[in-house]
Amino acid sequence: MIPADPSLASGQDDKVRLITLDNPPVNALSFAYCAKLYQAIEAAHADDSVEAIVFTGANGLFSGGADVNDFNNEPPAGAITIRDVIRALELSVKPHIAAIDGVALGGGLELALACDYRIATPRSKLGLPEIKLGLLPGAGGTQRLPRLIGARAGLEFMLKGSGVPAARVLELGILDEIVDGNVIERAISLAKEVPPKRRISALQATIAPEVPMQAAPFVVAQAHKMVPPEENGGFAAHKLIDAVQAAVELPFAFGVAREARLFDELVRSEPSLALRHIFFAERELSKVPGLEPALPLAVAKAGVVGAGTMGSGIAITFAQSGVPVAVVDTNEEAVDKARQTVMGMFMYQVQKGRLTQEEAWQRGQSITFTDDWSELADADLVVEAVFEDLDVKREVFAKLDGIVKPAGLLASNTSTLDIDAMAAATKRPEKVFGMHFFVPANIMPLLEIVRGRATSAQTLATAFAIGKTLKKKAVLAGNAFGFIGNRMVFDYVREAFALAEEGTAPARVDAVLKVFGFPMGPFAMSDLSGLDIGLHVQKLQGKSGRGRTNVLEQLVEQKRLGQKAMAGFFKYDKAVGKGREPIADPVVEQLFAQEARKAGVAPRVVTDREIRGRLLYALINRGAYLLEEGVALRPGDVDIVYVYGYGFPPHHGGPMWYADEVGVRRVYERIRDFEATFGPQWKPSALLARIAERDGTLRQAQGDKSGEVTHA
Ligand code: 3HC
Repeated sequence: MIPADPSLASGQDDKVRLITLDNPPVNALSFAYCAKLYQAIEAAHADDSVEAIVFTGANGLFSGGADVNDFNNEPPAGAITIRDVIRALELSVKPHIAAIDGVALGGGLELALACDYRIATPRSKLGLPEIKLGLLPGAGGTQRLPRLIGARAGLEFMLKGSGVPAARVLELGILDEIVDGNVIERAISLAKEVPPKRRISALQATIAPEVPMQAAPFVVAQAHKMVPPEENGGFAAHKLIDAVQAAVELPFAFGVAREARLFDELVRSEPSLALRHIFFAERELSKVPGLEPALPLAVAKAGVVGAGTMGSGIAITFAQSGVPVAVVDTNEEAVDKARQTVMGMFMYQVQKGRLTQEEAWQRGQSITFTDDWSELADADLVVEAVFEDLDVKREVFAKLDGIVKPAGLLASNTSTLDIDAMAAATKRPEKVFGMHFFVPANIMPLLEIVRGRATSAQTLATAFAIGKTLKKKAVLAGNAFGFIGNRMVFDYVREAFALAEEGTAPARVDAVLKVFGFPMGPFAMSDLSGLDIGLHVQKLQGKSGRGRTNVLEQLVEQKRLGQKAMAGFFKYDKAVGKGREPIADPVVEQLFAQEARKAGVAPRVVTDREIRGRLLYALINRGAYLLEEGVALRPGDVDIVYVYGYGFPPHHGGPMWYADEVGVRRVYERIRDFEATFGPQWKPSALLARIAERDGTLRQAQGDKSGEVTHA
């Protein structure tokens, strides 16, 4: 067999031309690359000795799809796009075979769909993830898939957008064959038989097996009902459904034209710009200036101190990523309880079909529960998750320093406290850092990595590497009270509280934020994390954390601790939304009114716009301070924290992106108004002032600060 030619000129075996997509790192089908690809395809079509063409991919994958960077600009005049490449395949009388090993996504899969045959290795994953970027498959995918597997299955595949394992894709009918051995050899032998052309475009779209075509309007209407509203995260989904409707109703050429028009509309839409920002911001996270030469240490064994909810969640996270972990707690009862909870959780996942018995058993085996601290001696990384109290944590660090091997890294899961103070309790401050997981640690994707004054580059590089192993979005934060996420949430909750003290019902505040796109508002969020926890953090914050009334103290005294107590700012009822649905409680509204009167807080009638402004601009202003102080490295880092940790609607791109969407100058002016009305807590950040003055954007102002600050 002739090896694939990396320059994309042809490799040839007898009458079969092998074309290898090779555009590192992910064989993206950029305009520039499509021009080369097009030439190679046209050359194969023109060459009479070539009877069939096989496509494959270098760099361990087939293709990651269109180059997302290209979408920010108009295609240059005469640019060749994936659509042109696909049209060339469609017009040719020679058969094409896609030989897939690794991922085939977006335009990459659309190229494969334009081939006559598709075969793949078992490890391959195929998907049309455009929806996650606020787009729809724009190179024929919305037209070919309904013709190949039916509109209903096609829609489901495209609306989910995730990469689907080859075995399932075969079942769906998208693949023709799974090849256990060498997929290229198999494709070439298939190609040598010169199989007949099988253009999907020539097929008639169906709805689903045994569903008559007359049901199409009903299926389309149902689909529109099932996705979020256009203005609240569903913009692309509705357009995608429109495109699939076109596949069902129109001839192929008309459908493709409709798809292209809808795609062009989406590419310029604000939700898509925001989602593409999230995509790139996520990939920037680990690019920390000064970190590059440091190589991460291997973490073959981890330890967790503290067998509470957080410690157990962290242990599960390690176990499910294949890192053996020892959970240590001095309290034997807590150890037993954690063991039962964790094993119960694995069994539950087996019942739900998310894990096999064997996987559950393996995960269970990789967690050791013990009250013997010497189990941590050979750990490469130990995360403490004990009570949020600096003295307690310092004691734990001093003890760990004496037990864990000298090369071992020590991390704290604190959500607010001073990492340097903990590092000072050890003789290895360069190996100490913060690893702030979010509850529940095994589910929430966010991880704040906190850099102390002495944390070494190698420790940080290891922290990012383990973040990747744990499949978390790891964001670097400076060592300041509350780091990035919680520091911002304090200001957000402060404003929610102030609004309630001024007479706005908590349910109304929450409703406004839900309309904006948050899954829950600040009061429901406080109920979920526990009012006792909120009060504890408020006390740690000191004077700046307190509201004007003592409503929070009173609710905690009344044992209204939040969702876990079936009462907090809201009440909960087991019969309503499984006890998780907040129900407005007039008692709490009266308590706010009564305490506000005592504290001399004047009632205010507010508009929804003011509610939204006060909450969102509080986030933006604090985010800008954190950037200015170097606690956060880039606006995109702040956005990732808020989207993945606090439910900020991704179609608004995160608070800093949203500030640009509104216009920093406008945001700044509103903040100045709030300062004049409500006081110095609204003093605008100097960064915002500077950007507003030149009517600029945070995006342009993205700096490269080191993220190195002392605890403030
Ligand atoms: N366009 C441009 N750059 C891309 C890209 C794409 N489609 N996919 C990945 N990259 C870049 C990343 O930005 C990153 O760049 P960096 O090294 O400079 O930071 C690099 O490739 C590696 O990416 P990852 O860190 O994500 O690498 P992984 O190995 O973890 O994952 C992947 C690889 C599974 C391909 C993943 O990158 C991915 O899911 N990419 C997005 C796929 C996608 O959304 N495709 C659809 C594009 S839209 C489209 O095709 C429109 C069409 O319908 C017309």
